[in-house]
Amino acid sequence: MQPDYRRIVILTGAGISAESGLGTFRDKDGLWTKYDLRDVATPEGFARNPTLVHDFYNARRRNLLDAEPNAAHFALAELEQAWMARGRKITGADHDFLLVTQNVDDLHERAGSERLLHMHGELLKIRCENCGSIRECRTDIDIASVCPACELPGYLRPHVVWFGEMPFYMDRIQQALEACDLFISIGTSGNVYPAAGFVAEARRGKAHTVELNLEPSEGRSLFREAHEGPASEVVPLYASRLLAGEYTQMW
Ligand code: APR
Repeated sequence: MQPDYRRIVILTGAGISAESGLGTFRDKDGLWTKYDLRDVATPEGFARNPTLVHDFYNARRRNLLDAEPNAAHFALAELEQAWMARGRKITGADHDFLLVTQNVDDLHERAGSERLLHMHGELLKIRCENCGSIRECRTDIDIASVCPACELPGYLRPHVVWFGEMPFYMDRIQQALEACDLFISIGTSGNVYPAAGFVAEARRGKAHTVELNLEPSEGRSLFREAHEGPASEVVPLYASRLLAGEYTQMW
């Protein structure tokens, strides 16, 4: 008998956007091989040298504005639509679907994903450390940029979560992990907590766990099923199998 999955949680990382031309962090040529993350991705680094940090995120923002979603982003958006429609048809109530991304790019939403949480923030937003306002931002910012809300210069920072800061939406993610019966991790190396611990939490709730990645991640042994290959190939294939009711379980 096939498992009757109802509630899906999907975690994505930089690997899903690699084929869109956005660099990953820990691969050969990854961002953390070129930059010291303590300089550009910590509150202390920002306090030490805000210009360096703004330059780093300005370059990433420009790169993102030139990038396009790939087949993996589109496949997840289509899976969400089909899954929710199926839920309405079969049970009369929505199935649950939550896409949690560690990525700060907006490629999931551009592909059409709606039930989406950016646990590490969003590159196309800035936050004011003086008044707390969060605004869209598609241009470069620097230490003299003025907050559009409080009109003071010098307080804007990227709306991204740095090392040592608390990721966003943890309560909602926790609840979804406890309730899900299928957890899929895509394109993440499993190096950074709390996201790296999601598979264990999903397993505690008895979810089936699947890894889709270019190569086995740090946490590979924690997953019950795994498929290796580029996200643009393995994600559409896995999504179509899931929708067709073909659950390929290994291990
Ligand atoms: N398809 C699928 N997976 C890929 C592809 C691809 N085309 N290219 C690379 N990968 C895989 C790599 O094998 C690696 O396991 O994606 C993973 C990327 O890992 P990381 O670079 O560590 O990125 P991520 O896991 O998202 O990092 C987590 O670390 O620095 C922080 O805040 C940053 O959100 C980020 C977090």
